[in-house]
Amino acid sequence: MSSQKDIILEARHLTKSFGLYRTNRHDVIKGIDLKIYSGEFVCIMGPSGSGKTTLLNLLSTIDAPTTGSVIINNISVGKLGLIGLADFRHEHLGFIFQDFYLNERLSVFKNIATPLLVNNVDKEEIRHRVQDIAYLLHIEDQLDKMADQCSRGQKQRIAVARALITNPKLIVADEPTGNLDQKNAHELLKILQKLNKRLNLTILLVTHDLLVASYSSRFFYLKDGQITTEFERGELSQLDYLHRIRDCFEDEES
Ligand SMILES: Nc1ncnc2c1ncn2[C@@H]1O[C@H](COP(=O)(O)OP(=O)(O)OP(=O)(O)O)[C@@H](O)[C@H]1O
Ligand SMILES: [Mg+2]
Repeated sequence: MSSQKDIILEARHLTKSFGLYRTNRHDVIKGIDLKIYSGEFVCIMGPSGSGKTTLLNLLSTIDAPTTGSVIINNISVGKLGLIGLADFRHEHLGFIFQDFYLNERLSVFKNIATPLLVNNVDKEEIRHRVQDIAYLLHIEDQLDKMADQCSRGQKQRIAVARALITNPKLIVADEPTGNLDQKNAHELLKILQKLNKRLNLTILLVTHDLLVASYSSRFFYLKDGQITTEFERGELSQLDYLHRIRDCFEDEES
């Protein structure tokens, strides 16, 4: 089914090793091939230290692989220079992190608008775009506040708005609900799911939380630097999909 869709991201034979010497060499990613299709909501889970963040960093151009290549929107990112890479990220990717990384001393509006300010976008256009995106994230009435006056849930939604303001096709999120309580995590995931469906936004998300994973459309389990299980949600209800993910966990960890 998914083979008929466009591939947005492809990883070929990815490996990543840390440490310069034979004695401290640590092979963290051990040969990963994967394809992510446009409009998928992909979740990566796995034990602490299995290499999830390392893999996400390789897939999202934050770090370079030791061997192998990453192709996003048909562009081989390893061939881009430093400036080319920065422009590429700005144009194609949006990032969400566990720690929201907002500028707490700026207004919500300015935090969301930040990625547009470097590009000489017209002021009126910025105002419209910030308002539209804030509306999607239910923070349209928070724009005048300072970021440090907002709740955690609001702060993460501001960070998501900032990630989306440049209209990226791919959102990369490392434990985006790690600092949220269950209610705010649920609200954020509902929003991400809505954006995924409405804007055909592709989402690549790492989490420790089974419930968070159950919002995705495809699941990868990473163990010791390799993908050991992979499946799609398909026609499963969210509850059945959650049970499938839980069963996978029990099998993988037994
Ligand atoms: N820059 C680095 N230099 C050396 N070792 C590193 C570096 N980054 C990660 N590692 C090692 O790679 C392994 C995987 O780390 P990674 O952060 O990818 O794990 P993770 O699956 O994201 O774990 P967690 O669930 O705790 O976030 C760990 O053993 C870590 O110590
Ligand atoms: Mg991690």
